[in-house]
Amino acid sequence: MTTTFRIAPSILSADFARLGEEVKSVIDAGADWIHFDVMDNHYVPNLTFGPMVCQALKPHAKTAEGVAVPIDVHLMISPVDALAAGFAEAGADLISFHPDASGHVHRSIQAIKSKGVKAGLVFNPAEPLDVLQWTIDDIDLILIMSVNPGFGGQSFIDSALRKIEQARKLIEASGRDIRLEVDGGIKVDNIRRVADAGADTFVAGSAIFGQPDYKRVIDQMRLALG
Ligand code: DX5
Ligand code: ZN
Repeated sequence: MTTTFRIAPSILSADFARLGEEVKSVIDAGADWIHFDVMDNHYVPNLTFGPMVCQALKPHAKTAEGVAVPIDVHLMISPVDALAAGFAEAGADLISFHPDASGHVHRSIQAIKSKGVKAGLVFNPAEPLDVLQWTIDDIDLILIMSVNPGFGGQSFIDSALRKIEQARKLIEASGRDIRLEVDGGIKVDNIRRVADAGADTFVAGSAIFGQPDYKRVIDQMRLALG
């Protein structure tokens, strides 16, 4: 069975003064999803953007042919539920959160899905996958952090490869269609190794927005993925 690989540029590394243009440019360059990092300076030591920015960017998240490109919202906030509802109303297509940021993980998943939005769980580098035992039948996405959340431009933490392998086994055992996304330090020269561990969706911020030619980087990533 061939794997469909997805590349999700993270706008955390984009030019904030021109976010709409940046979203359009990276979609023209071949992005499959737009990764939207939400930080509250509480769960993580940084502060980014809220639902209003997601709503403003939604009309820009489409191809030249008018096909909508999914907005993949990564919530690094605590509590989760109120803002998750806000992002669902603002046009998010996928919303993922950190289990240790919600007092009621299953309820938070249900609340996201009740809005017709796909739900995901995010695992920090030291966080075990145990909660998946009780939630794998309800989620659409598993996001493995390969850096400690809060900043772009950090180096890939190799122990994430073993966790990706574990998550891939759990997805296969579940028989469900669940995306396995990896976030942090993804580059042209390591993306193949991450795919070999079992990932199918790759967040990349500084590797793409830190370069003048977004298309060249995305094409190189696709070439490496084969
Ligand atoms: C970090 C964010 C990541 C980050 C990735 O907390 O969740 O999405 O923007 O940036 P790079 O690819 O530069 O590591
Ligand atoms: Zn992220």
